[in-house]
Amino acid sequence: MEQKRYDLEKRFLHGGDYNPDQWLDYPEILQKDLELMDKANTNTFSLGIFAWSTLEPEEGVFHFDWLDRVMDNIAQKGGNVILATPSGARPAWLSQKYPEVLRTNGHREKMLHGGRHNHCFSSPIYREKVAIINRKLAERYHDHPALLMWHISNEYSGECHCDLCQENFRLWVKNKYQTLEAVNQAWWGPFWSHTVTDWAQIESPSPIGEMQVHGLNLDWRRFVTDQTIDFYEHEIKDIRSLSPNVPITTNFMADTYDLIPFQSLDYGKFAKHVDIISWDCYPAWHNDWETTADLASKVGFINDLYRSLKQQPFLIMESTPSGVNWHDVNKTKRPGMHLLSSMQFLAHGSDSNLYFQWRKSRGSSEKFHGAVVDHDNDEHNRVFQDVAKVGASLEKIKEIKGKNIDAKVAIIYDWDNNWALNDAQGFGLKSKRYPETLQEHYRYFWDHDISVDVITPDQDLSKYQLVIAPMLYLMTKQTMEKLKVYTKKGGTLVSTYLTGYVNETDLAYLNGWPQELKDLFGIAVKETDTLYPKQKNNLSFAGKNYDVHDYCSIVENQAAEVLATYQDDFYAQSPSVTKHAFGTGEAYYIGARTTGDFLGAFYDQIIDNLDLANPWIEQGHLAVSVQQRGHNHYFVMNFSEESQEIRVASEGIDLLKNAPTSQPIQMAPYEVKVIRTTDG
Ligand code: GAL
Repeated sequence: MEQKRYDLEKRFLHGGDYNPDQWLDYPEILQKDLELMDKANTNTFSLGIFAWSTLEPEEGVFHFDWLDRVMDNIAQKGGNVILATPSGARPAWLSQKYPEVLRTNGHREKMLHGGRHNHCFSSPIYREKVAIINRKLAERYHDHPALLMWHISNEYSGECHCDLCQENFRLWVKNKYQTLEAVNQAWWGPFWSHTVTDWAQIESPSPIGEMQVHGLNLDWRRFVTDQTIDFYEHEIKDIRSLSPNVPITTNFMADTYDLIPFQSLDYGKFAKHVDIISWDCYPAWHNDWETTADLASKVGFINDLYRSLKQQPFLIMESTPSGVNWHDVNKTKRPGMHLLSSMQFLAHGSDSNLYFQWRKSRGSSEKFHGAVVDHDNDEHNRVFQDVAKVGASLEKIKEIKGKNIDAKVAIIYDWDNNWALNDAQGFGLKSKRYPETLQEHYRYFWDHDISVDVITPDQDLSKYQLVIAPMLYLMTKQTMEKLKVYTKKGGTLVSTYLTGYVNETDLAYLNGWPQELKDLFGIAVKETDTLYPKQKNNLSFAGKNYDVHDYCSIVENQAAEVLATYQDDFYAQSPSVTKHAFGTGEAYYIGARTTGDFLGAFYDQIIDNLDLANPWIEQGHLAVSVQQRGHNHYFVMNFSEESQEIRVASEGIDLLKNAPTSQPIQMAPYEVKVIRTTDG
């Protein structure tokens, strides 16, 4: 696809969600916005996200004049519009006249009008109404000079359990399994007498019905993803044909402010349907439960996941210039943090920093959510000035836009596995912590300034020297085969406890640990001991003892080299960490949950063997993160409240200051430098 305007855009995108529809009675505010957009050094605005009741105040009556004016004004100043379809929330007349569009929850209760994403994705009427408004928007604006990209709906989420959705789910199941016998086998039907003898007996999981049939739960989650994607595909049909050159995105999100991947939809699948990934990132900076570096590493992880979904630069569609309104405590950013946190997005491959929201709304729940323009309308206040500074900084480093990140290390994250593992009634119900465990492994690489791709199991592994695949409890035979091929051809693979228990329909593998894994790792996992929160074991690795907690796999060695043994309990002296030469590669198995000190010692050896250390860093600092983007650009970021220094191999130009770098590089608290080295 030829992507004209977006391809021609040489600037980073800076701006955000703009809701002129809330201010149509305040022409002086709309006028002021245009003035302030320049002063804030912003260039891109997302319009129309929740504007349906203004665009179509009555059924079939459309008002576009206000949107024409705003788009024209933005075009006149050389700005961009990311134009949204308004399906995230709908007008009251629609719910009143067509109650079928209302969502039904898991308790089978029909919801009232209100909120967002409170509609049925199956409803033919909802689909028809969305298609009409989307088509009107596409017809009117497809060649508008300001149009840069389409923003489909807003943060798709949730699920509907109405009769129409039950029927669609049954069709989905039928399509997948063809026969009821196959369904009963996949879902282990006779358990609690759950054999189904008629397609109509299949129901979505429900707290007033069945929640314990794991195969059903897993397929329901897959169905919800497929149904959401199907709704999205329905939304973009006319848009795609009327504006084939305009890229399409929909904004993804993270789950909670722990910044773990969004739990309810498989974004690995969704990513294949969007032209560019965009997502909304709201870290709780300056919180009281972790250090700034701890949080920054999690932000790095999730940005690397969303970048890696398409292996190309992505967009931050929403972030906040100060605080949000939905954390328990909505703290504003300390001086310096806005520039630092904005630059961190770019360091991990974003081509934008866009905000929610341009202007604070006057009423309702988001009136105190951070915004570029506050109720005071004052361009001199601290937040506005911070935003303007980010805009000016983006201009100075625009040569980096579009550059990719070349990682030799991959960590595998799998949505299916996450769902199955969360369901598993066994092990420690509260201690599984799958995404968090990946973040703990990631931390080593963040601390050592080594780029990482966070990928899904279906992605290509051949470009990686090291693949880390912790806790793949659900592992398909295809994934086993893929990991074997990868390792055989010279790759280094790291796996852990809670790996290889169930297949793709959440049925346990029979006859012990799968033979494929025994061949690959040279061991057989016999049991998993689950520890209470206060219990510990320890392992001895390279002459030192390290605490382990939560999980200890009890392993029989078959052909591996034992790198560490347990020191306690009835399995003392048995293998806890092993290494197995397989083909021309090596497969490591870490049998227990360790802390960062073990991971540090373990990965130090691997990084040494594979020569993966960042050659630019001569002496780093754990709170200073360095990310390379493209061939010779480095973001150097001090995520601490103290001054730090690092030594690097070659000098360069500090692009933000337009001055040569010093050696060592001195970093003030929260300082960020963007450096172009002279060797490229
Ligand atoms: C996002 C949403 C925005 C706004 C924001 C507040 O999840 O897309 O519309 O509500 O949160 O942080």
